[in-house]
Parts: sequence; C-alpha cells; structure tokens
Amino acid sequence: MAINQLKVPGKVFSGNDSYLKLNDIIAAEAVKAVILITDKGIEGAGITAPVLELLDAAGVNTQIFYHVQAEPTYNDVTQLVNEIGDAAADYIVAVGGGSVLDVAKLVSVLKGASYSIENLLETPGIAKKQVKAVLIPTTCGTGSEATCNAIVGVPEKGIKIGIVNDELIPDVAILDAGFVKKLPQKHLAAAAVDALCHCVECYTSNKANAFSDLFAAEGAKLIFHNIREAYADAANLDARAQLLIGSFYGGVAITSSGTTAVHALSYPLGGEFHIPHGVANAILFEKVMRVNKPDITNELAALCDAAYPQQAALSAEEKAEFIIEEIADIVKKLEIPADLSGFGVQLKDLDFLVEAGSGVRRLLDNNKRALTKEEITDIYLSVLNEQTGGEENE
Ligand SMILES: NC(=O)c1ccc[n+]([C@@H]2O[C@H](COP(=O)([O-])OP(=O)(O)OC[C@H]3O[C@@H](n4cnc5c(N)ncnc54)[C@H](O)[C@@H]3O)[C@@H](O)[C@H]2O)c1
Ligand SMILES: [Zn+2]
Repeated sequence: MAINQLKVPGKVFSGNDSYLKLNDIIAAEAVKAVILITDKGIEGAGITAPVLELLDAAGVNTQIFYHVQAEPTYNDVTQLVNEIGDAAADYIVAVGGGSVLDVAKLVSVLKGASYSIENLLETPGIAKKQVKAVLIPTTCGTGSEATCNAIVGVPEKGIKIGIVNDELIPDVAILDAGFVKKLPQKHLAAAAVDALCHCVECYTSNKANAFSDLFAAEGAKLIFHNIREAYADAANLDARAQLLIGSFYGGVAITSSGTTAVHALSYPLGGEFHIPHGVANAILFEKVMRVNKPDITNELAALCDAAYPQQAALSAEEKAEFIIEEIADIVKKLEIPADLSGFGVQLKDLDFLVEAGSGVRRLLDNNKRALTKEEITDIYLSVLNEQTGGEENE
C-alpha cells in the first residue's frame, strides 16, 4: 500500500478578525521585526492597513514591500529578494492573492540563502526555510497559503513552472473573510474557479488518496454551493468566507495529491500569453474533463455524491455528466471567457502550445487518462476555435 502524507501549515486560523491572532504569535515568539509583502493593488485598496496598525501597536519594526507583479516571473522574485536584502525579519507576513503569497513563500526560503531561484528551478529539493511566514490570502482561490508549491513564469521557455518543496509550506495561514471583502468580482471569479479546479483535479488524480479525497470533496462541495452566490452578490460575505475555506481545502488537497491536465495545459497559456492563471484553467476545465471522463467516471460520480447527495438516483455516468455540466454552468455564470480569442492566441501558436503543454510531465503524469498528442491538440483546438466571445483582455 502507498504511504500517504498530510502536510498542513503549523497553525491555521479562520473566522472574522482572525488576523488578530498575529498578536499571539508576536507575544509568544518575541517578534521584533517583520517584512510585510503585498502588491500595489492590495496596498491601494487599504487591505494591509489593519495588519500594519496591529504590528505598529505591538511595537514591531515593519518594512513593507509592495513590488509584487501579478503572475510573477522568477526574475520578479530575484528583484524583490535583492530589494529586501538584509532587512531584519523574524517573520514574513504576506497579504495578497496567489501572486503575493507565492513570492513571499519563495522569499522565505531565499532570503540570505546561498542558492538562487535559478538553482531552485533546477533543484527544488535544496530549498531550506530561512524566515518563517504568515500568509493571509486576499483572493479565495489559489490555496497557496496551504501548499508546498510556488509558481513562477519562465519567460525564456514561455511557460510557468511550479517549485515544489515542503519547506515552502507556510508556518501560519490566516483565513479571514475581511481580507476578501473588497476582492473585485472579476478576480473572485477567476480565483474561485481555480480553487474548484484544484479540488476536482486532486480528486481525480493518480495521486488521490484518503487524505486528499477528504479535503478535495469538502472543498468542492463548499465551492459548488457558494461560487455562483458569491459572484452574483458582492455583498454576500458569507459565501466569500465559504469560498475561502474551500480554496484552503483545495490547497491542502494539492499537497497530498496533485493537479492534473487542466493545470498542465494552462501553464503555457499563462507563461507565454499572460492569461491569468484562473482564467486559463477555467477555459480548459470543461474540455479536459470531457476528454478525461471515460477514465474518471467513478471519481466524478463520487464527487457528485459528496456535493449533491440529492442526485443519488442517477447512474455513475449521469453523475459524472452532472458534475461536468455544473462546471460549464459555473464558468458561464461567472462570465469568464470561453475561448482564447480575446488573448491574442492564434492557430499558428497551436504547435507551441501542444509541445509546451505536453512537456508539463509533473502534472500530466497525475492525469488518470494518458492523454495522447492528438487529444491535447484537440483540447487546445476546441478553445482556440470557439468564437463565443467574452470579455477581452481579462
Ligand atoms: N502556489 C500555489 O499552490 C498556487 C496555486 C494556484 C495558483 N497559484 C499562482 O497564483 C497566482 C494567481 O493568484 P490569484 O488568482 O490569487 O491572483 P493575484 O494574486 O495575481 O491577484 C490578481 C489581482 O487581484 C488584486 N487583488 C487581490 N486581492 C484583492 C482584494 N482583496 N481586493 C482588491 N484587489 C485584490 C491584486 O492586486 C491583483 O491585481 C498565479 O501566479 C498562479 O500561478 C499558485
Ligand atoms: Zn491553480
């Protein structure tokens, strides 16, 4: 029997104002200096203010760095590590979406280290935690606050690469819905569908196991039942809070299982065409699940049983179809583009996409169906050719 492992942050807090738990950490560990990592959008929206006030009131010397780019490249990370230099830090506190959280996790293993991010891209196993990290997500999506992954663009290859090492798991995750209150609907949509991808892919992955199934099924249930409500009504904080928990569960599922072909095929769309991660996944989600369906009917049916027990009378085949239809409906209701026409991707790019997507073996090897080059080509063609419109330049 395979050995499974559950890996979670040392402490996880959730609930309104749970960010106040920072006070306990400061007191218990005599924290004197903090580096706060965020991005300009979050800083501008005033989302970091309560954390800064808390740190100030606790007498912590805080330096704030907000030069994180959305969908960062490894060069962006190097730039930030250089900017931070030898600034004093007992802790890193990150307030942001997946971009900020991934960068902060990388800083936590790079600050003062003898190796570089280029070394980590080659040999992720050498990463060692240099500074502890507290992660506070502001999007309900990536689950990065739970995962051992950090994803960076590698422009030379036109692809994104996930650096994976348990040392990247944060020490503390704080799931406080107050931090997702101002998340714009467009970003909420992309991030929440990404979280649903994490749950569904992990549940149907070759690496799925008892631990990941527990978190993936519960995460999928929370997301299926709150995502449309959260998008339709920006004031529905309860739905956002449920998505925040669901996306955290998706992150936990990733560390124990792994995502599959949706994420694999989306990496070149993010790396070369800079399509936001959640949008690229959403465009591919239904198509990949349809191709995978013959090999994952039972898993999709079990997910249907977990999330929609009222559909118990359906056959396994019908339950699998029900889940795929739900996915398609969610992407439509959340007004995410259904194809690549608005992102400058053309038919002439097909060979690059197929080549680059087929090369993401770390994730494709998790896919229950061993996708052929023809199937991968058909998946990309189906999202290239569809002319259903949608928002441009998301
Ligand atoms: N490490 C992992 O396990 C993992 C998993 C999935 C995705 N990712 C990575 O995460 C990144 C995407 O993260 P994301 O989808 O969370 O988006 P993001 O972090 O790129 O943020 C998108 C935009 O939303 C703004 N924003 C974020 N929160 C806000 C808030 N509460 N209010 C107002 N504006 C807000 C940001 O300023 C930014 O402009 C990608 O680089 C992706 O590869 C990592
Ligand atoms: Zn993702």
